Formats: sequence, structure tokens, C-alpha cells
Amino acid sequence: MRQSILVASLCLIGSAALATPAEDALEARHGLMKMISMEMGTLAGMAKGEVDYDETAASAAAKNLMALAQYDAPKLFIEGTSSDDMEGSDALPAIWSDTEDFAARYASFATATDGIDQEVMGGQGNLGPVLQKLGSTCSECHKPYRADR
Ligand code: HEC
Repeated sequence: MRQSILVASLCLIGSAALATPAEDALEARHGLMKMISMEMGTLAGMAKGEVDYDETAASAAAKNLMALAQYDAPKLFIEGTSSDDMEGSDALPAIWSDTEDFAARYASFATATDGIDQEVMGGQGNLGPVLQKLGSTCSECHKPYRADR
């Protein structure tokens, strides 16, 4: 029993070691974007009335967005991971011709999350404006820097 646990954990370490830094960065930023869109989805579901408005759940989703926005996402966009370099990457090479602008657009998203944990409280009607202001920061980065957007 103990031995099989040891073998299983060695396998995990082994497979992690096989991933290149580029693959790790790609996987990590896809995960980050996925988490961001899941929290946005929670708020959007309530805004559309697909899910009942729940102030606690809305505020929790907003807090997660605030935390995710604080993560240093640009560091996951390492050299050699553009859509030209790697299969599965939708990160346009334009990112690397102006990394400062790219970082500034992530910072705009972070700024847009300021105080949203409070703003989403008080009723379903408060969700729309928050989603709109956050959503525009997504598209302001996706348009220039994400393939097929
Ligand atoms: C500073 C730029 C930037 C901001 C801001 C940003 N994104 Fe992204 N996003 C990207 C880039 C670049 C990709 C493509 C990444 C790749 O394929 O390597 C991406 C990919 C995604 C993906 C696809 C992930 C996958 O698994 O392929 C989703 C979903 C996503 N973003 C959602 C969002 C949402 C929702 C917001 C706003 C709340 C947002 N993003 C804000 C740059 C940004």
C-alpha cells in the first residue's frame, strides 16, 4: 500500500518534470483565465436571472476576481509562447512587441475590480454595471492580443 503511494507520487513528480517552462506557463495562464471567466460566469448567471441573485455568492465571486487580478499575469507570458511558437497558444506575437502595454491592460482589469465586492451587493440590478466595466477590460486586451477575438 505504502509502496504504491510512493510509486504514484514519483510518477507525479516525473510528469511535472517533463513539462517545459513554456508548457507550464501556457497551462498556468489558461488556468488563470479560466478561473477569471468562471467567476465572471457566476455574476453573469445572476445578472441574466439564470441563477437566483445571492448577495453572499456575488460578493464572493467579486472577491475572487479582485484576487485573481492581483496575480502577476504578465509573467506567465514568457518568450517563446506565442501562437506562432506553440500549439494551443492564442497569445498573439504582438504581446512581445509591447510588453508594457500588455501589462498596462492587465493593470486596467485590476483597477476595474477595485471595490466590486461591495458594488455587487444590494440587488441583482447592481451586477450589470460591474460586468460591463470588467468585460470591457477583457476585450480591450483580447482584441489586440488574443487570436480569433
Ligand atoms: C492583459 C490582457 C488580458 C486581460 C485583461 C484578459 N485576458 Fe483573457 N486572455 C488573454 C490572452 C493573451 C489570452 C490567450 C492566452 C493563450 O492562449 O496563451 C487569453 C485567454 C482567455 C481565455 C481562454 C483561456 C483558454 O483556456 O484558452 C478566457 C476564457 C479568457 N481569456 C477570459 C478573460 C476574461 C473573462 C477577462 C476579463 C474579466 C480576461 N480574459 C482578461 C489576455 C487577457
